[in-house]
Amino acid sequence: MIYSFANDYSEGCHPSILEALTQSNLIQQDGYGDDEYTRNATSIIRQLTQSDADVHLIAGGTLTNLVVLASILRPFESVVAAQTGHIFANETGAIEATGHKVEAATTSDGKLRPQDIVPFLNKARGHHVVRTRAVYISNSTELGTIYSKKELTDLHIFCKANNLILFMDGARLPMALAAPSNDLTIADIAALTDVFYIGGTKCGALLGEAVVITNPELKKDFKYHLKQRGALTAKGRTMGIQFDQLLRNNLIFDLANHANRMAAKLSAIFKSKGFPLLIESDTNQVFPILPNTLVKKMQEDYGCLIWNVIDEKHSAVRFITSWATPEEVVDRFSIDNN
Ligand SMILES: Cc1ncc(COP(=O)(O)O)c(C=O)c1O
Repeated sequence: MIYSFANDYSEGCHPSILEALTQSNLIQQDGYGDDEYTRNATSIIRQLTQSDADVHLIAGGTLTNLVVLASILRPFESVVAAQTGHIFANETGAIEATGHKVEAATTSDGKLRPQDIVPFLNKARGHHVVRTRAVYISNSTELGTIYSKKELTDLHIFCKANNLILFMDGARLPMALAAPSNDLTIADIAALTDVFYIGGTKCGALLGEAVVITNPELKKDFKYHLKQRGALTAKGRTMGIQFDQLLRNNLIFDLANHANRMAAKLSAIFKSKGFPLLIESDTNQVFPILPNTLVKKMQEDYGCLIWNVIDEKHSAVRFITSWATPEEVVDRFSIDNN
């Protein structure tokens, strides 16, 4: 293996985090999110979002998705997601295990639009079927695409008009916000969603996701939900200090920008060699369509993942770059198609 492009969490964390962890090691702090680092991170997030949001740090994305959704939904309510959405495609039924159906809409680019949600609201069978109450989107999406301000505003208006809660999975939100084509600010996202999160795991932290709740109804009792599902961490300080570091001086966005830039270089290499892309991604995921004869070798050299089968002879393959991907690896990236 020359270098693995299998995912964006193969490295540990940004060195400034290790330094901060070392320096704070023997300083005593209160547990369960009541430490000074979590308070600092919360206050930076409130400034960035220009809101009085509640902030909670949770160890992983699946855990975040299930606690947030289970806290929003009544027992008979469901959530709509794109069929590529992480909660539908990749979480082993974690949401369903909380008792809530995930309803999936087929979309071509990983994004949900109002017209994708409408069919789930027109349930002629009333109380014989689940009631759709939440909309799950991810930004960036699992296909690397991002929402524009207009698209998110349209969704926001639609959700408000239909009494739906809008939840944005931001496992890769820093990449979305750092994308050259992005026109959303984090303050827009706070204003246009009810709850979202800022990913740390894939964006330079050892682990952790920062949930930002702006809808007052959802703030209430959230800590009970966290605790009951085992997501309220005694040593919350370990995540607090990471977000405190990452959010200072825009570090998290600089790291995301690096990941995006490395992916743009990979995209350009594939295109220059005549390999089409499954989709134009704005962020750190690239999906070239490669002949199967080449896929095995690319997997051996670069640990990429087969995303889907295009036809008998071709597959779409996913390459992900990270905050730590060395530029020289990308500059020396070779495709030997002989
Ligand atoms: C968009 C998105 N959300 C959530 C998750 C889940 O994160 P975790 O693996 O930490 O549970 C992932 C993981 O790849 C993801 O890509």
